[in-house]
Amino acid sequence: MRVLSGIQPTGRFHWGNYFGAIRQYVALQSHPDDAFYFIANLHALTTVRDAAVLREYTYNAALDLLGLGLDPGKATLFVQSDVPEVSELCWILMTVANMGLLERCHAYKDKKAKGVAADTGLFTYPVLMAADILLYDSDLVPVGEDQNQHIEVARDLAGTFNHLFGETFVLPKGYILPDSAKVVGTDGENKMSKSYNNTIEVFEDVGVMKKKVMRITTDSRPVEMPKDPNTDPLYQLYSLFASREKASEMAELYRKGGFGYGMIKKELAELAADYFAEARERREVLAAQPEKVREILGDGAARARKKAAEVLLRAQTACGIKG
Ligand code: ADP
Ligand code: TRP
Repeated sequence: MRVLSGIQPTGRFHWGNYFGAIRQYVALQSHPDDAFYFIANLHALTTVRDAAVLREYTYNAALDLLGLGLDPGKATLFVQSDVPEVSELCWILMTVANMGLLERCHAYKDKKAKGVAADTGLFTYPVLMAADILLYDSDLVPVGEDQNQHIEVARDLAGTFNHLFGETFVLPKGYILPDSAKVVGTDGENKMSKSYNNTIEVFEDVGVMKKKVMRITTDSRPVEMPKDPNTDPLYQLYSLFASREKASEMAELYRKGGFGYGMIKKELAELAADYFAEARERREVLAAQPEKVREILGDGAARARKKAAEVLLRAQTACGIKG
């Protein structure tokens, strides 16, 4: 069974990306042939319009993922554009993609609703994502709830193609993380996201991270008042990092009342620094060996291309452009 997922290099990864996506990638890796993960730089082109910045984000994404525990001995890690077969499959799939289907996809629909001009890259973004998935005979695609619609598009396009040209593509399944896995942002209100400017980066300088934690928005209920931990954003962040016992002790404290938020913030900052300390060290060791990172990505691309060539040929033969 092949697990596949992609993540866009549109900035440095934050706690939401880690707990909502990357942690699952690491948990699902077992053998390079079974776990394919890639850095979606072709998708990022729809928003990052600076070559040097995109290069830097892409390289840092690789370092971050490896630091966080993606193991090239257990997973294939590659950069999307290093497998040019994906662009050809994208075109083939575009020829069977219904306009209405893409018009309903939220990235494009939301932009249009706001009256912002969208380019065709954004409009056909879900087709490229379908190509990413179908090109490797992927069975399972772990993603956040927001990507569910795109998995449906991939299934739809695979089904249409198979219907027209005979069994060609494996129908993928989404492995959708529950909504409760959503990490709240430092505004205490919205989900943590670059677009809300409420993020804390995984490899943020520890001093900066602490400052950001101290600035997390909390309510102004008096110290002595008992509070419900389950509805408190600070508690939600705290429990991502705390052991089960520590989290339940803290929940008890919330119910009793009589504490200020500052003390919890200090503890959260310390827990978060410890939590990522090993990953940070691993990342630093790799950062000093850029040739090793390039080698890992080169090997990953070679492995991915082998599978891609096989599936692309199958699709080309099925629809009559080869053979
Ligand atoms: P951003 O919203 O910061 O641009 P992305 O949309 O690039 O982040 O998200 C990349 C991955 O991380 C997706 O799989 C997404 O579901 C997950 N993710 C992003 N933000 C969160 C969050 N706050 N909580 C849980 N998962 C998240
Ligand atoms: N669109 C996904 C996101 O923004 C990233 C992505 C691109 C992806 N291609 C994919 C995810 C294929 C899973 C499978 O998070």
